[in-house]
Amino acid sequence: MNDVAPSMITHPDRNMAMELVRATEAAAIRAWPYIGRGDKLAADGAAVDAMRKFLGTVDFDGVVVIGEGEKDEAPMLFNGERVGNGLGPSCDIAVDPIDGTSLTAAGRQNALSVIAVSDRGTMLDASSVFYMDKIVTGPEGHGIIDLERPIGDNIRALAKAKGKDVSSLTIAVLDRPRHVDLIADIRAAGAGTWLMLDGDVAGGINAARYGSPIDMCVGIGGCPEGITTAAAVKALGGFMEGRLAPLDDAESERAVAAGLDVRAVYGLDEMVKGDNTIFVATGVTNGELVAGVEKLGPIIRTESIILRSKSGTIRRVVADHLVEKWLD
Ligand code: FBP
Repeated sequence: MNDVAPSMITHPDRNMAMELVRATEAAAIRAWPYIGRGDKLAADGAAVDAMRKFLGTVDFDGVVVIGEGEKDEAPMLFNGERVGNGLGPSCDIAVDPIDGTSLTAAGRQNALSVIAVSDRGTMLDASSVFYMDKIVTGPEGHGIIDLERPIGDNIRALAKAKGKDVSSLTIAVLDRPRHVDLIADIRAAGAGTWLMLDGDVAGGINAARYGSPIDMCVGIGGCPEGITTAAAVKALGGFMEGRLAPLDDAESERAVAAGLDVRAVYGLDEMVKGDNTIFVATGVTNGELVAGVEKLGPIIRTESIILRSKSGTIRRVVADHLVEKWLD
């Protein structure tokens, strides 16, 4: 066997990935008592609080590029906030303490706690726009998928690249009135849909990774979720394109003033530059990607994934935590 590449051995951020997962574990555990209790703000608040405390212990100097909103509206993890203990690498960080707050409050599947990190100055600050039109596939999509082409053409191209029949492809889409035509077009092309109530970060990752029933994730979802997904897709070697979808002229003008191009199709390298991304996610409720938080007598079990673009590794971490240390 050839020697292991030096970057696999020497990169200090290997440890950072393991530290960051503690923050998503903490957020998921703290959200657990709120699963199915109908209060999404309380669930989110508990997760934000726990994530912030744990991030403060990690050796890095982070700036929140994608956070929980503007400073005045969200006292915790707002865009521009410094996180980490200030020692170690300078990074951009995207946080989503719960992607799927409504899913959590309802007790539905697919809610995740998520963090993405990349080198300072490499993450696109698209916080002035709420929505993004996205398309995500696995590595087969490079060079053959184009967000601007009709969905049927993209589906046929992906089927060919994967050596599959169109009828065996499954396309994940958020179940929203705005996607009625898109869903009809996917079905007319002969593929099946996987309609998501919420949580298109998990949908995008499932489209990009091996061994998932989802081949492609498309449609308009949150812009912050789009950038976070891009960090994960990059680490997976997958394909993704995104285009900002401003709601009105005022939002469009804010985006242009912030230096964004509302007509452009952003590729992965424009959403997250470079090749040094870390993505960690812990399941809040059960999903296709990871299991949700589970209380088993004196322990509380979490499942997480850690993706590092440097190594291309997908690491799954199951941790048993002592209930007495965590839940009042
Ligand atoms: P929240 O957890 O912030 O509620 O986001 C859930 C989510 O479904 C995202 O995964 C998705 O990108 C976005 O909301 C879609 O927005 P909308 O619900 O307005 O269609």
